[in-house]
Amino acid sequence: MCGIVGILGREPVAPALVEALKRLEYRGYDSAGLATLEKGRLTRVRASGKLRNLEDKLAAAPLSGLVGIAHTRWATHGRPTEANAHPHASAGLAVVHNGIIENFRELREELSAKGHVFATETDSEAVAHLVAEERRSGAGPREAVASALTRLHGAFALAFLFDGEEDLLIGARRGAPLAAGWGRDGVYLGSDALALAPFAHTIAYLEEGDHVVLTRDKITFYDAAGRETERRRQPLQAGAFLVDKGNHRHFMAKEIAEQPEVVGRTLSHYLDLAAGKVRLPFDLPFDAEKLSRVTISACGTAYYAGLIGRYWIERHARLAVEIDIASEFRYREAPLPAHGLTILVSQSGETADTLAALRYAKAQGQHILSIVNVETSTIARESDTAALTLAGPEIGVASTKAFTCQLAVFAALAIALGRARGVLSEEDEQRLVRELAATPGQMAAALAREAEIEPVARDVARASSVLYLGRGAAYPLALEGALKLKELSYIHAEGYAAGELKHGPIALIDYAMPVIVLAPPDATLEKTVSNLQEVAARGGHLILIGSAAARAAAASELAGFIELPEISSAFAPLVYAIPVQLLAYHAAVFMGKDVDQPRNLAKSVTVE
Ligand code: F6R
Repeated sequence: MCGIVGILGREPVAPALVEALKRLEYRGYDSAGLATLEKGRLTRVRASGKLRNLEDKLAAAPLSGLVGIAHTRWATHGRPTEANAHPHASAGLAVVHNGIIENFRELREELSAKGHVFATETDSEAVAHLVAEERRSGAGPREAVASALTRLHGAFALAFLFDGEEDLLIGARRGAPLAAGWGRDGVYLGSDALALAPFAHTIAYLEEGDHVVLTRDKITFYDAAGRETERRRQPLQAGAFLVDKGNHRHFMAKEIAEQPEVVGRTLSHYLDLAAGKVRLPFDLPFDAEKLSRVTISACGTAYYAGLIGRYWIERHARLAVEIDIASEFRYREAPLPAHGLTILVSQSGETADTLAALRYAKAQGQHILSIVNVETSTIARESDTAALTLAGPEIGVASTKAFTCQLAVFAALAIALGRARGVLSEEDEQRLVRELAATPGQMAAALAREAEIEPVARDVARASSVLYLGRGAAYPLALEGALKLKELSYIHAEGYAAGELKHGPIALIDYAMPVIVLAPPDATLEKTVSNLQEVAARGGHLILIGSAAARAAAASELAGFIELPEISSAFAPLVYAIPVQLLAYHAAVFMGKDVDQPRNLAKSVTVE
């Protein structure tokens, strides 16, 4: 994880470095730092904790250098102290690093034996000393970096700043994203387009193994073999990456509220509403009739979107789906059917485990379809087909709008596969498309319940443990609800298949533990209600999320009820996701937690 940035400008770069770090804070926020050349001399400023601590230091002692690098950290090796914050320095150079240097212990031993003194507990510092060692034996900056790269194992994006070199920045990438950018006021390096959007009009992503040399006049790319090369330039529109909270208190609140709009936008990308048909913006490049199985892999919330997608693909396309979390899938050595379809789901498009799962499936000859939110991401670029979620930048660390947009794409895909396989009739397609097209309006109706959700959230906030129950496609939503509550409020929570309750977890039931039952109107509603009654019979603390009809069927005393409109069942998780998200959000706000940047997390998980 971590975010890195480098700027070679014509004005003092520290303010722009901080501005870029703010845009990268989603990648990690436990410490931050920057280095500039002040009158040609390397100067570092670093601070533990949030970026504002670094800003305070810079306000007290402003920097005026015209070239610099900066970093926002998500700790992997070494605690998030100021000493461990990047940039790391060795004689005459500083480096910022995103990724993990796997052989840092060997390098540390080797370089310590040569007299290098390590000042931190990090893996990254080894890179600084390694390059310094190359410099010591006479190599120029680029040669030193190129040679050091051959010694590094693991994943990295790096940016280097050299003492006395006022017109030079060097970047390198292997396994973690890095873009170079051209702007009116300078040249840039950054972990992603979002960081560079206010500054650069054009960017080019480094390819695996590349390094890049920036001077104010020129950006020169070198491939893994060290040959000078060109990389595809793409225009960058600052407006496409607006990052503000609007009138909302938190990014998460804004992103929850945006869902009817962004899900609507995503659906109109995949549906022809006038014709009542699915219209995918790409061809299915495989023979859907011959397809025997779909494999899905992803992490966290994106994985739960995949779990819901499985229900829909199995039901509407009658196609077997295998799904696993990416960190397991990549090491299982699962045999995959010839000419099969593997779907990867990722908001950031940079998640290391999901990317590794993609590469595994690709090596097995699978057609790779990714459902991604960041068009320029590594996962999108390495896929045969990138199905975009048009959620816009998601800044809140807990995923909300990307999740529902992923569901929208899965729903359209399930219908398209059903049609292509001859499982769904034209009337079925029209009915399902109609139901799907109605979901943004239903989501808006669910959002209008926010005032009723708040008191329920306050009740949940007092608990030390919470259980979420759901059946069918509401079961993955129960898992997602528990994840959202855990990560935002730090309250222990678990999601269970409602039918599984009696096989163990029912022993936990008492009045202190809220049991949140998701009861959308589907064929399993009666069964879910029976499970709810089992909890009621044991004096459980019940909270029901469902329609008035579900409430009536429940006929039990409830500690809380969040009423949702009567909707048709096919794609109910899109609508039921809203109260689930709002519940976790308001519980965390009530508890005074940092909802946009929960402790220990980062938005883009580029390490295993
Ligand atoms: C939870 C959350 C994470 C991500 C997961 C995958 O709210 O956001 O669980 O869903 O880290 O990230 P992406 O989708 O970027 O691959």
